[in-house]
Amino acid sequence: MTTDAKILSALRANPGGVSGAQLAEQLAISRAAIWARIEELRKVGFVIEAGPHFGYRLVDEPDALLADDLLARLGETKVIGRDIRVFEETTSTNDVIEKLARDGVKEGVVVFAESQTKGRGRLGRKWLSPTHKGLWFSVLLRPDLRPQEATQLTVASAIALRRAIKTVAGLPAEIKWPNDLLLGGKKIAGILTEMSAEVDRVRHVILGIGVDVNQDADEFPAELRKIATSLKIEAGEEIHRAELATEMLRELDFDYARICGGKFSRVADEWEAGCATIGKKVSVQMGARLVRGGAESLDDDGALLVRTEHGHLERVIGGDVTLEK
Ligand code: BTN
Repeated sequence: MTTDAKILSALRANPGGVSGAQLAEQLAISRAAIWARIEELRKVGFVIEAGPHFGYRLVDEPDALLADDLLARLGETKVIGRDIRVFEETTSTNDVIEKLARDGVKEGVVVFAESQTKGRGRLGRKWLSPTHKGLWFSVLLRPDLRPQEATQLTVASAIALRRAIKTVAGLPAEIKWPNDLLLGGKKIAGILTEMSAEVDRVRHVILGIGVDVNQDADEFPAELRKIATSLKIEAGEEIHRAELATEMLRELDFDYARICGGKFSRVADEWEAGCATIGKKVSVQMGARLVRGGAESLDDDGALLVRTEHGHLERVIGGDVTLEK
């Protein structure tokens, strides 16, 4: 953890205040160095009061994603979030992670952007990423999986995000296979899983996650208003993005450990329980082919099993799923 992250942790652990001397001792640096770091934190928007009786006290925080703040909130994780980087603007956080992957950076690194100029979704779609309104981030993973098992990671991410949304916003999101989270039938978040692989082995996977957090309805383009929503609209209040971001990383870390430990069946059970797709009639556009039938379950690789009208079981690993009424 960086010095700033440690200072923020100490301030949060002591809401009544903590003295400069205590901080200096805890962090093994001088009181002057503590003071200098506090000044820097103030410059990025933290309101930190100082007084002779209470020392330093955290009074208010900026609505901004800051790597040190996210690290401090997250604390220890096994893999995901050991290294967090935040950009004010980038093309796509998936592109940034792709570069880091090629440079040999360790798995678990997370890149957030306050806005993306070329955010992308599945099937070549554009992903809108307005400044400071959502969570737009990507995670680098180097799992020991076969390429056909990579869908497990998307499935695991969906349940991890769902739990985090429940904890922080109190809302029960539904999952639409494989990568969408919905509230009241409208999309709230999506996952774009990109992979580099050899024939029998995954080299790396990039989980790209987009969550619409604090937009108002009129901030969505008219054509999206019927199909997309934000947590703020659904909860009726602003959601603390840094808190949601760290809860998501914590839950992703938990499920990644389950996948790496060969516990996909537990992930699949939880997924099926929170899923809007299982048990429904669906149509799936897979390239030029349209498959229609009843979505029955997930198989061991995370593929969706659809029973067609002719009784045949189709294994769906990609494509666009529409829930039929
Ligand atoms: C989808 O629902 O189609 C997936 C959307 C994924 C969007 C996220 S935002 C962060 C990351 N960077 C991107 O360009 N896309 C993903």
